[in-house]
Amino acid sequence: MVDFSGFYKKTRQERIDILSNARQISLESQEIIKTDTNLPETIAGKMVENHLGTFALPFSVLPDIVVDNMHYSVPMVTEEPSVVAAASLGAKIIAKSGGFITTVHNRLMIGQVALYDVADTSAACFSISQKKAELLEMANAAHPSILKRGGGAQDLTVEEKGEFLIVYLHVDVQEAMGANMLNNMLEAIKEPLEELSQGQSLMAILSNYATESLVTASCQVSISTLNIKQDLAKEIAQKISLASQLAQVDPYRATTHNKGIFNGIDAVLLATGNDWRATEAGSHAWACQKDHYRGLSTWTIEEDALVGSLTLPLPVATVGGSIGLNPKVQVVFDILGHPSSKELASIIASCGLSQNFAALRALVTTGIQQGHMKLHAKSLAMLAGATGNEIDIIATQLRQEKHSNLETAQNLLFNLRNKK
Ligand code: HMG
Repeated sequence: MVDFSGFYKKTRQERIDILSNARQISLESQEIIKTDTNLPETIAGKMVENHLGTFALPFSVLPDIVVDNMHYSVPMVTEEPSVVAAASLGAKIIAKSGGFITTVHNRLMIGQVALYDVADTSAACFSISQKKAELLEMANAAHPSILKRGGGAQDLTVEEKGEFLIVYLHVDVQEAMGANMLNNMLEAIKEPLEELSQGQSLMAILSNYATESLVTASCQVSISTLNIKQDLAKEIAQKISLASQLAQVDPYRATTHNKGIFNGIDAVLLATGNDWRATEAGSHAWACQKDHYRGLSTWTIEEDALVGSLTLPLPVATVGGSIGLNPKVQVVFDILGHPSSKELASIIASCGLSQNFAALRALVTTGIQQGHMKLHAKSLAMLAGATGNEIDIIATQLRQEKHSNLETAQNLLFNLRNKK
């Protein structure tokens, strides 16, 4: 097992070498990281419309997280300082208690055909259910390759909601996210459904409320590992548990609590070429399942452990979309050890819970500014105009200032330059 302590203090080249050895990264991937090869213009220009160029963001790595007894290094793409540090710290503390254990509850995607102007909804429901097997066959015929891969349309259900009779198609999409697959299938059964229901179809589209792609990540953190002083360790555990309760009762806090979770999740979704808008939309809907918007994770105390749990819809893909086109995304999968879509969902949920743990730990102890501003200082120095060696000098001075803001950074830079 590789010891990643102090990984962040190494040079970029040293980090690449350590990671390449620890995770057996291919020579091709190492070359892409070293030369910082990005999406070629020839591909970027064909992926989207009105293309002007490519747009870079920092590409980092959480060096070591233990998920289901396996060690992973997890690439993260984010513009925000302290996110990678927090996820790394959370993963490091939680690894001391065995890491994360996950459950992938199911892996189906749901799509819908919304019918309206249906005169007799009971008769329509009956006709549709009588033809369920044929409708599933038609759906599968619209995307036959998924059957060869062991997936395909598995079920069809009907519900009346307000003005609408809604037909839901439940599809095993295997390693893909499945949007195009579902949409092909849904459009193929749209007209037959109009005939069977004697109604009109308004639309046929995949739903991003992926309630049949649920993943739970959980961990049991020994309270004794939270601080050397045991009374302080207990107090930290109690306060993290209270913070979790606060996110259950107050939507203002729940939103920020969940933003912290998504600091970890979005960074990995972006790095793996996944659709983060779809996951965000689905998860925020999931957070509203009960009476109001709530924190997605909970932290409770059970005997000597602080128990964390996060359940959310994570319909992630390892193939399809832009995944095969972007050379950096290929490197990301190489670093991750080419997980299946279920394993990837487990890793991503664990990163979200890790990030949440670190943020709550900071909030109930030192406050967020100490750790976050320490790492934000370099960005402030650059915003103030510092370049080269000036960046580290100004960042170090800023960390000692009472008011660590842009104005202070500008004053420090002025003083530094006028001393020379
Ligand atoms: P620390 O205790 O000062 O860190 O925490 P440390 O210097 O003792 O190092 C401990 C470990 O942290 C290291 O282990 C690394 O794993 C990691 P080691 O390598 O030494 O064995 N670490 C780093 N990794 C990479 N680069 C670094 C680095 N420093 C430490 N530079 C830390 C410092 C910032 C991690 C801590 O204060 C923290 O977790 N703060 C929370 C930061 C956070 O959540 N940031 C996100 C932005 S704020 C936000 O958007 C979310 C929020 O609103 C959500 C919410 O309200 O719930 C807060």
